[in-house]
Amino acid sequence: VLDTPKPAAESRCPVDHTAFTSPTGCPVSPRAASFDPFTGPYQVDPAASLRWSRDEEPVFYSPELDYWVVTRYEDVKAVFRDNQLFSPSIALEKITPTSDEANAVLARYGYAMNRTLVNEDEPAHMPRRRALMEPFTPAALAHHEPMVRRLTREYVDRFIDTGHVDLVDEMLWEVPLTVALHFLGVPEEDMDTLREYSIAHTVNTWGRPAPEQQVAVADAVGKFWQFAGTVLDKMRKNPDGHGWMPFGIRVQQEQPDVVTDSYLHSMMMAGIVAAHETTANASANALRLLLEHRDVWEEICADPSLIPNAVEECLRHSGSVAAWRRLVTADTTINGVAIPAGAKLLIVNSSANHDERHFDQADDFDIRRDNASDHLTFGYGSHQCMGKNLARMEIQIFLEELTRRLPHMELVPDQEFTYLPNTSFRGPDHVWVRWDPSRNPERTDPTVLSRQQPVKIGEPSKNTIARTMAVSGLERVADDILLITLRDTSGRPLPKWSAGSHIDIDCGTVSRQYSLCGDPNDRNTFQVAVLHDTQSRGGSRWIHTELSVGDTLRVRGPRNHFKLDPDAQRYVFVAGGIGITPVIAMADQVKAAGGDYEIHYAGRSRTSMAFLDRLARDHGDRVRIYPGDEGTRMDLPTLFATPEEDTQVYSCGPERLLSALGEATAHWSDDTLHVEHFSSTLEELDPSKEHGFEVVLKDSGITVPVAADQTVLQALRAANIDAQSDCEEGICGACEVPVLDGEVDHRDLVLTKAERAAGRTMMTCCSRACGNKLTLQL
Ligand code: HEM
Ligand code: FES
Repeated sequence: VLDTPKPAAESRCPVDHTAFTSPTGCPVSPRAASFDPFTGPYQVDPAASLRWSRDEEPVFYSPELDYWVVTRYEDVKAVFRDNQLFSPSIALEKITPTSDEANAVLARYGYAMNRTLVNEDEPAHMPRRRALMEPFTPAALAHHEPMVRRLTREYVDRFIDTGHVDLVDEMLWEVPLTVALHFLGVPEEDMDTLREYSIAHTVNTWGRPAPEQQVAVADAVGKFWQFAGTVLDKMRKNPDGHGWMPFGIRVQQEQPDVVTDSYLHSMMMAGIVAAHETTANASANALRLLLEHRDVWEEICADPSLIPNAVEECLRHSGSVAAWRRLVTADTTINGVAIPAGAKLLIVNSSANHDERHFDQADDFDIRRDNASDHLTFGYGSHQCMGKNLARMEIQIFLEELTRRLPHMELVPDQEFTYLPNTSFRGPDHVWVRWDPSRNPERTDPTVLSRQQPVKIGEPSKNTIARTMAVSGLERVADDILLITLRDTSGRPLPKWSAGSHIDIDCGTVSRQYSLCGDPNDRNTFQVAVLHDTQSRGGSRWIHTELSVGDTLRVRGPRNHFKLDPDAQRYVFVAGGIGITPVIAMADQVKAAGGDYEIHYAGRSRTSMAFLDRLARDHGDRVRIYPGDEGTRMDLPTLFATPEEDTQVYSCGPERLLSALGEATAHWSDDTLHVEHFSSTLEELDPSKEHGFEVVLKDSGITVPVAADQTVLQALRAANIDAQSDCEEGICGACEVPVLDGEVDHRDLVLTKAERAAGRTMMTCCSRACGNKLTLQL
């Protein structure tokens, strides 16, 4: 294994050595053998330190730890997903076995930390989680917002005039601790003592204390255990109190087998750490990251609506839980590597969050990343963090208050960030910042103090992510059609997009959607072509009359409601007028992929038709042009007379053209025709005509009732399940989820008839159950 083999490590190695013929006889690579999460590169940057593993050896055995280490996104998520094969029972076990002396200290305090929720197996876990979830739902959390805001303001008041502060010591440690105590219903005790206890608990569980440290750590952990017991006893005497722990005590009276005494005592201690330290560290990571990216900090100061997604991106990029643990309960394989029953897994979610296979430019810090909330910092599946929305709320409020009151704050230069050495809980010990108090905005404008934006509870929605773009080109490409080139003012690469995507542009007082028609490989600019609609009272008139080169615009997206089926053998594109914009991007994409296609493009006259030169240049004889004033008409019935298997028809243009095309292809197979939709009323529900039903969530292990006046999406969110959406009108596909069982009443415009009939997925924003139950892979 090593240049100088460690006998202890080799003797533990669970790999069948006889099967290998390497010089040392052990297949553990040198890098796997030297992996040490308690010192060195992992402590500096866990994700970067494991890049080699993600690329070359995504599942490896670490003799140093006696754990198998899993580092890729899909593998880590798969382990989280299966809590039977991969038991969470070792999540809070001491990763470093402690000395007899330390154990004796713990015994003296009667230390008996046992199963809570996070380390409880089925069948005990889910009934307990269900019974204790209500205080975490968005509706219940909304009551805590004023308290979090008040505390945050009080702490900022204390240092706002000083000009420098360690944000961790003066705010980011204590506010989450106080919020955690409020949430749990624990009286506010001596904060410094609780801080000492919490750190000892982290070192005891995920650290590698030196033998001489172990006794002191055990002493603090023992005291923490006793403290938890005393608080619990007091609470039992007044079980009507507010907070999650008294709630648990009341549930115990009804369901003593579900909420046990051992659970309550263990949770009292673990809960303080779960609710507090995770969030304190996440906030400190977020502040460090944002202030290190000054341009991003300034962007969120200027536009606080970016904060919810910025929080999510901070949790992805620099999460506060770097790795988690599972125990393998039966022989299995992970990504092709055989793992024996009884093996322990270190699943490195911080590494998964930087996996290029899931996150584009994964190391970049991009607050507009539209899949940031796919991160695994909160875990996934039936044990996924119950407190995630409280944490999100806290971090949002911290950022909102600090960006508004101290936008000129900066990191004290050249400070060294230190971290408590351990595998899992990660956040800087201190974050020193400084500013000039005479420039505090509230000194000249006291209204700064009363401003606030409502907190968004839950996973942020993709369609709120806006960017500021400058108009770098305006070119008339046909009568009444302007080609607009937009450049991101931040200078960062724009997201990748696929043909059929559009962006939303704020045009004065209204927002309008325009299809992208430029080069998808150009990561610096977006291009859209806008027709001056003479009937228009807003969007296109504003663009044609008000816009000049150099102006800035707010843009959301790109989003794609009109995706190409990559598997078609042949494509027929039909465009009318300005409908050429998505079609030309699609034709470019099919051509680049070497596909077979033809384009039919109709317009009033050649001068009114955009991109004729580009079409002739790039698509030559695959294009047929039908300028109306030349007497050439697109004869749809003849074009589509004979149905063709494996041909897909994509069309964008005036309603008249689309309905004529619908008639002309009526005898073609159900999946042939795809047209672009920009809006619908599909989400509108008439409860008198609907029935309620249940959705069973396979990964999360819960059943969620959907009332007659509720969409599945709303019901999922109310049950604290992260659920993506975008249009919420059944036209974009963002809310699609896999269906495992039950018949779906499909109401969207996204799925083809064949996909509907197959019933393997559904759009949760509008579609419902035909019967009483649907089972979803969520
Ligand atoms: C579970 C992370 C904040 C309460 C977890 C898990 C992780 C995690 C990784 C295990 C997930 C799994 O096994 O799939 C975080 C992070 C936080 C945070 C990164 C802050 C940024 C909170 C807060 C609370 C909380 C504020 C409580 C108020 C819990 C509970 C569980 C849990 C009760 C156990 C759920 C179960 O096993 O069913 N958290 N957490 N967490 N967290 Fe959090
Ligand atoms: Fe767009 Fe449901 S959110 S289809």
